[in-house]
Amino acid sequence: MQQLVEKFEAYFKMSPVWGAKAPGRLEVLGNHTDYNEGFVLSCAVGQTTDFVFAPVDGTGCTVKDFRDGTEMNFDLADLDKKPPRNGSKYIIGMLNELRKRGFKVFAFKAGLESKVPLSAGMSSSAALEVACGLALTGYAGFEISKADLARAGQGVENNFLGLKTGLLDQFSSLFGEKESIIESDFRTVEVLGTHALPPGYAFAVINSMKKHTLVDSDYNVRREDCEKAAEKLAAVYPGAKTLRDISPEQLENAKNALTEREYRRAKHVVGECFRVKQAAKLLAGGDIAGFGQLLFDSHDSSRMNFENSTAELDTLIEIAKADEACLGARLSGGGFGGITIHLVKADEAAAYAERVKKEYAGQTGIEAEVFICSLGAGARGNKLPQA
Ligand code: GLA
Repeated sequence: MQQLVEKFEAYFKMSPVWGAKAPGRLEVLGNHTDYNEGFVLSCAVGQTTDFVFAPVDGTGCTVKDFRDGTEMNFDLADLDKKPPRNGSKYIIGMLNELRKRGFKVFAFKAGLESKVPLSAGMSSSAALEVACGLALTGYAGFEISKADLARAGQGVENNFLGLKTGLLDQFSSLFGEKESIIESDFRTVEVLGTHALPPGYAFAVINSMKKHTLVDSDYNVRREDCEKAAEKLAAVYPGAKTLRDISPEQLENAKNALTEREYRRAKHVVGECFRVKQAAKLLAGGDIAGFGQLLFDSHDSSRMNFENSTAELDTLIEIAKADEACLGARLSGGGFGGITIHLVKADEAAAYAERVKKEYAGQTGIEAEVFICSLGAGARGNKLPQA
């Protein structure tokens, strides 16, 4: 954060007053379960987005992104207008969401820096929403719970950007705990417990570098499929509100109530909720091999049932399966491209990632990005010492 403060001071010739750090996240298991009020295992990562700012008079805001050098300007009078094409849309969206909740918006100059890879499936946008939300509300003394701040970030995506995402990304960025996988319930919106990876294991993250062009609409269509399936299942099982309320056996017994596609979408979500619960037990018992197998199972289900995998993601998982060092791997996040996570021994992770990268380049001609991820702490904001 100190470096960002110095860059801010050199650029704006003034000192920032508050700052916040918000991590990206990895979805470990529990794919597309959040908006079905289901269960997820996720973690915050060591890579963060940092945001610092100083209030100014008037209504003009300036944001300097020190990652790519762009300067973005907007006016508080224009918050309701169409989102701009640059990253300030996340900040403007957050101001809108906070304002709805009673926050009095004010003008500022802000600086940001981020190590969270962009559009890869590690929630760089959620990290920015959370970092700016924490810093602005912290400074203003505006009381908002972590769960509500996460909802405000989700509101940016849902209401301002038209993407019907769930709460996972912002929630994980805020509630992540160092060295821990958090197990969350998206009905009650709470962390049920934390799980450590057995000592000596890590996640290698390998970015397929390819994304469908229609990721946003694909995502929204999957969500509609799930909601349709839940509605039909509720007619068979009164009281069932979402797919979270359906057990794998119940789904099989009511298969005929659904179209073939709805059945496969539901099978993925119901299966993922079930796998999260199984995984929690396996981790508690230190069964890393069993846990890893669930990651492979999850990917198979994405490929066959939810159809949110791609040829490139499948190639990465096939390479993983053929490598003895890998205990489990799957696509992570929304899918339709983006990243895969690979469970490996920490001291073999770098060599493993290089092997996969080489093999992937050989098979597809694509140069993958790789990261070894530590399980990082959740977001935090603080007043900055004044120079
Ligand atoms: C994206 C969304 C999340 C979640 C995942 C899939 O990351 O932003 O809300 O639905 O996809 O689990």
